[in-house]
Amino acid sequence: MENQTVVIVGGASGLGLETARLMVKRGALKIGLIDRNEQLLVQAAEELRGLGAEVAVAVGDIARKDTAHGAFEEIVGALGRVHCLVNSAAIYPRKDIFEITDEEWDLENAVNIKGTYHMMVAAVRHMQQYVAAPAVTGRIVNVTSVDAFKAHPQNAHYAATKAAVVSLTKSFAQACAKDQILVNSVAPAGFATERARQLGFLGELAAANPLGRAAEPAEIAEWIVMMGSSRNSYATGENVIVSGGYIYA
Ligand SMILES: NC(=O)c1ccc[n+]([C@@H]2O[C@H](COP(=O)([O-])OP(=O)(O)OC[C@H]3O[C@@H](n4cnc5c(N)ncnc54)[C@H](O)[C@@H]3O)[C@@H](O)[C@H]2O)c1
Repeated sequence: MENQTVVIVGGASGLGLETARLMVKRGALKIGLIDRNEQLLVQAAEELRGLGAEVAVAVGDIARKDTAHGAFEEIVGALGRVHCLVNSAAIYPRKDIFEITDEEWDLENAVNIKGTYHMMVAAVRHMQQYVAAPAVTGRIVNVTSVDAFKAHPQNAHYAATKAAVVSLTKSFAQACAKDQILVNSVAPAGFATERARQLGFLGELAAANPLGRAAEPAEIAEWIVMMGSSRNSYATGENVIVSGGYIYA
């Protein structure tokens, strides 16, 4: 990550913030955080500055194009060229598969699919200014989920949005390959963020996992860093599953 500038969407907490910490430890110089939670954004920025990074934050709801693009441009205005985008923002409510309302579908699709889409378009448009083939122009890493591949009726709408992001990742990878922009996703099984703890499903996921435990966020962040760093020069359109064997259980 040496000398890289990274924008992390959903970077105010959880996996996004853990990824930011790891990227700074691995040499990233500048971090841009986009999130709708202003209070957590301020705390996260302070922590990352303490680790030595230059940090810019933008408050925004990624579900809408104007706010998503506005937030990305705000970060570019403060930090300059962006080398890497990480899309970690998502909502994962649980709901009986037969009871999902129109409003719940619309919100799930708006944040998880459309939000990821808007952020990728904003980043690609920006990165396209810096094409110098055959060098890699930039990297995008989307956070998906094993739920995209395994039956999960406890949150079927969420699972469907993550399958959609796997699909979007492949389409963007194809469309951006000529510009040497690498687009990949990482699909974790359950891991112990504050939000996941609050929702109370980690015990159930740990019991279903061959390793007998949920992951720590840092164990997932490693793979995001791998796909978003200069160590990745050839993988694009891939979805890396990091599930402690849960995907095969
Ligand atoms: N925690 C798990 O067990 C687990 C498992 C598999 C996949 N994932 C995925 O990992 C990613 C991170 O999960 P987490 O546990 O760190 O969640 P989290 O809730 O801790 O972090 C998500 C962040 O996204 C932000 N956000 C949500 N909606 C937004 C919006 N509309 N606009 C801007 N920001 C918004 C939130 O404010 C929050 O800071 C998500 O994509 C999630 O689906 C999580």
